[in-house]
Amino acid sequence: MELRKINTEDAKAQWEYTTTLPTDENGLTNPYNGVSYDEYIEKVMPTLISYEHPVNMPDWFVPETYYYLWDEGRLVGEFRIRHHLTDALRNGAGHIGYSIKRAERGKGYGTEGLRLTVREANKIVPEEEIYLRVNKDNIASLKVMQKNGGKIVGDDEGHFFVRIPNHK
Ligand SMILES: CC(C)(COP(=O)(O)OP(=O)(O)OC[C@H]1O[C@@H](n2cnc3c(N)ncnc32)[C@H](O)[C@@H]1OP(=O)(O)O)[C@@H](O)C(=O)NCCC(=O)NCCS
Repeated sequence: MELRKINTEDAKAQWEYTTTLPTDENGLTNPYNGVSYDEYIEKVMPTLISYEHPVNMPDWFVPETYYYLWDEGRLVGEFRIRHHLTDALRNGAGHIGYSIKRAERGKGYGTEGLRLTVREANKIVPEEEIYLRVNKDNIASLKVMQKNGGKIVGDDEGHFFVRIPNHK
C-alpha cells in the first residue's frame, strides 16, 4: 500500500475517484462531483496540484496537498493535508481530510491511509498536534482516528475534535 501525491500520470484514476466522490459526505466536501474527464484535465487537476504552492489565492487559503492511497495498482482513497492552522481550521476541519472509495470501505484502508498521511504530516505541520474533526455519528472515521493515536479533546453540537501527537 502506498500514498502517492496527486500527479499528472495518475490522472485517469484520480478523475474517476474525484468525479464519483459525493459533494458532501460527513462534512468532507467535493465540488467536483460529476466533472468530465476533459474538465478534470484542463481545470480541476491543475487547480488541485497548485494548492500545494498556491498562487493568487486569498490570504485565508492554507497550502493543501492531495494524496491518493493505492493498493496493488488500485486507487482506493484520498487524503488531504492542510499545512498549518488558521483560526478557522483550528475550530473547524483541522489539518487532514480523507475518504475511501465506497466499495473498499471496512477493509482497513482508512486506518492505514491515515497512518501514512500522518507520517507525511509529521514532515509538514509545524503545530505540536495534528488537528482533526469528525461528525459525532461517523463511528468509522472516529475509529480510524483513534486507531492512529487520536484523542477526543472537545466537542460542539455535531462534532468531536480529535488530536494526534505530531512527531516531527
Ligand atoms: C470514514 C472512512 C474513511 C473509513 O474508512 P474505512 O476504510 O472504511 O475504515 P477502516 O476499514 O479502516 O475501519 C475503521 C474502523 O471503523 C469500523 N467501521 C467501518 N465502517 C463502519 C461502519 N459503517 N459503522 C461502524 N463501524 C465501521 C471498522 O470496523 C474499523 O473498526 P475495527 O478496527 O474496530 O473493526 C470511510 O467510511 C469514508 O470514506 N467515509 C466517507 C467520508 C468520511 O466520512 N470521511 C471522514 C470525514 S472525518
